[in-house]
Amino acid sequence: MSVSASVSAAASVQTICPPLPVLGRDVTVPLVTGGEVTYAALDYAASAPALQRVWDDVAAYAPYYGSVHRGAGYLSQLSTDLFENARRTVAEFLDCRPDDQLVFTRSTTDSLNLLAAALPADCQVFVFETEHHASLLPWTNAQVTYLNAPRTPRQAVETLERALADRDPYGPALVCVTGASNVTGELWPVRELAAAAHAHGARIVLDAAQLAPHHPVSVQDLDVDWIAFSGHKLYAPFGSGVLAGRADWLREAEPYLAGGGASRKVSRREDGGVDVEWHESAARHEAGSPNVIGAYSIASACKALTEAGFDTLVARERYLIEKVREGLAEVPEVRVLSLFGDDAPRVGVISFVVDGWNSSHFAAALSAEYGIGVRDGLFCAHPLVRTLLGSDAQAQGECGAPEAAPGEKSLNAIRVSFGAGTPDEHVERFVNAVRELVTDGARWNYRTEDGRCVPDTSA
Ligand SMILES: Cc1ncc(COP(=O)(O)O)c(C=O)c1O
Repeated sequence: MSVSASVSAAASVQTICPPLPVLGRDVTVPLVTGGEVTYAALDYAASAPALQRVWDDVAAYAPYYGSVHRGAGYLSQLSTDLFENARRTVAEFLDCRPDDQLVFTRSTTDSLNLLAAALPADCQVFVFETEHHASLLPWTNAQVTYLNAPRTPRQAVETLERALADRDPYGPALVCVTGASNVTGELWPVRELAAAAHAHGARIVLDAAQLAPHHPVSVQDLDVDWIAFSGHKLYAPFGSGVLAGRADWLREAEPYLAGGGASRKVSRREDGGVDVEWHESAARHEAGSPNVIGAYSIASACKALTEAGFDTLVARERYLIEKVREGLAEVPEVRVLSLFGDDAPRVGVISFVVDGWNSSHFAAALSAEYGIGVRDGLFCAHPLVRTLLGSDAQAQGECGAPEAAPGEKSLNAIRVSFGAGTPDEHVERFVNAVRELVTDGARWNYRTEDGRCVPDTSA
């Protein structure tokens, strides 16, 4: 089917499937040029707005909030049930195996650091250089092989197979791979990579931070050993994340944090020391008072997305993706960044550069003159963005810090990202704004302040 045919096919889905209600949909922001507009949140890949349903569920629970796994009181019992039910709901959402463990963490970064801390001795880790830093960096205790950026999904599988073929076949090994790139939105061939890993006796963890909010994910169908994602990208911004998967490495590892909740029995020894028996369940890695609202909000989001139906959500998102891609394709100065090419399946995450524009300047103008929130920078995936830009951009210091001087040639990129709560008008405004900025230029002057490009309001 041609792109326009697929857009019109998807358009009929779109008319019967409005965006899901999210918080902030009526928030207005001031424009530097005067007046106000409703804010167009097009930075879902960083943090998505909360689903109204999630907010309502949390508000309904809030008066009943109590301690988890600790109190004898009614509300404590209720909160404990809610927390453990949330664990079951999320495991169901991910289609985990019956004997998998699901640990509530703070985020994807936390989940992957937990797994890194649970690696068996002498574990080899294989990770593509294209990963988000959360997947690229936690493996400091392992022997890591960084794989070069592939240019096709097939090449990704072949690159991994070659690397695994050279490894010590008897030692433990882990492959870490993203489901959908936080830079290009492109889907990675997770099932094929999992098959390659398993064929060589390695395990695989899926970074689903950008996949789970956009696509149904089945741990069993993809045959991944672990999966990690964050609540705040899945419309549940209450500080929780998830690591789910095989119990053995988690059970055998030292607790991620030592403390109450993780310990089953603590006793003084005769020599004056302390003996600890740690839990073998997920509680082993959930020391301290659990974030029950965070866990509950993730479960609520999982239910809301499932009830909305991923078929319709995916179809609607595809329609928005094509609207943006077609709009950007009409502006010759725009170059969309891609590893796998135009036909690669993708989620609603699109990065690009504009000839003659510094990306920070462009993003600042989108915000100040059009009320559109996007992100600029290297998106915590420095090696990938540098490869895609073909530039020698130097390390940018803090995550997302921009090359700031307005008018300079771009050494970083602009990312627009959207999802289940995005109305058509937001992407239409974005496409029109890109066209206008490129054709007419910015209507305001900008300057650099604290490393960021901001409207100059001093005149
Ligand atoms: C692909 C990917 N993995 C991991 C992360 C880290 O997520 P968090 O910041 O929630 O830990 C991100 C965040 O942008 C991401 O896009």
